[in-house]
Amino acid sequence: MSKSIKKKLIKRINNRKMRRTLIFGTYITALTITLFVLGSCVSNPDSSGLEYMPDMYRAPSIEAYVDYGEIRGRKVEKYKTTLSALTPPNNTIPYYGKGDSLMVKLMLPYARKANILFRESHGLYGYDFSLADEYTLAAADNNPFLLTSKNSEEILSKGKVLYTAMCQHCHGEKGDGNGPMVLSKAFVGVPAYADRATLSDGQMFYSIYYGKGMMGAHNSLLSKKEIWTLVHYIRQFQNPDYGKFDKNGNPKVLAKTDSTATKTK
Ligand code: HEC
Repeated sequence: MSKSIKKKLIKRINNRKMRRTLIFGTYITALTITLFVLGSCVSNPDSSGLEYMPDMYRAPSIEAYVDYGEIRGRKVEKYKTTLSALTPPNNTIPYYGKGDSLMVKLMLPYARKANILFRESHGLYGYDFSLADEYTLAAADNNPFLLTSKNSEEILSKGKVLYTAMCQHCHGEKGDGNGPMVLSKAFVGVPAYADRATLSDGQMFYSIYYGKGMMGAHNSLLSKKEIWTLVHYIRQFQNPDYGKFDKNGNPKVLAKTDSTATKTK
């Protein structure tokens, strides 16, 4: 084979390769354009079109302030009334349900104010304070959730869950003030509930809500219903018959609605 023929042959092969590459390239371009055009074939005007990797545009996790009741035409009725945001805007009060129900009333702010001294002693900044001895006045407040032979077991078992999670490490499983925090000597001054049997329900609530002495405020951690539930639970430590009922459905121990503080006033 002469040199010139060899050269021509190589050129032809090269051309053929190039042609193939060109044809392939044209196909790819055509396909890409078709996909782009197809991508716009979505009737929803709020949609950016077909998404090949939706997770890249939207986090699959639940996000605050997104109304999951309706997304892209897909409606989920039950989510329309469900809050997805956990932190409400400042100074707003959640208020829903039937106007006169106990739970709706409990959504309103606690009527008793923290004493002005609590600002320093318990770090309660940004609160409305009072100069009066509201702790003493709180003795007049009654637990709005009355125990009955029907609901007693449920309320006390809810109280146990809350107590175990929030209070037991200081106050002890038996309410004797010997929680692991105290036994390890990390914390001192926790009383046995039995020694405070004369405390009224309202004062217990006040102390759990705003804190007392070495105990911190729990109002940002517990709802008012939960605190009243705990008040019921703590009473068992003072009287094992608390929350128990006789055959006629009468409570064996009456709630501490009468208060020594208001009696002396
Ligand atoms: C960090 C430890 C600690 C934790 C947690 C704690 N307490 Fe206390 N608690 C104390 C101390 C200390 C006192 C004594 C306060 C005083 O009288 O000076 C106390 C007192 C009390 C009193 C008596 C209040 C009064 O007016 O005399 C009640 C009721 C009470 N706690 C309930 C609770 C409940 C319910 C929880 C859980 C939500 C809880 N505590 C969590 C340490 C704690």
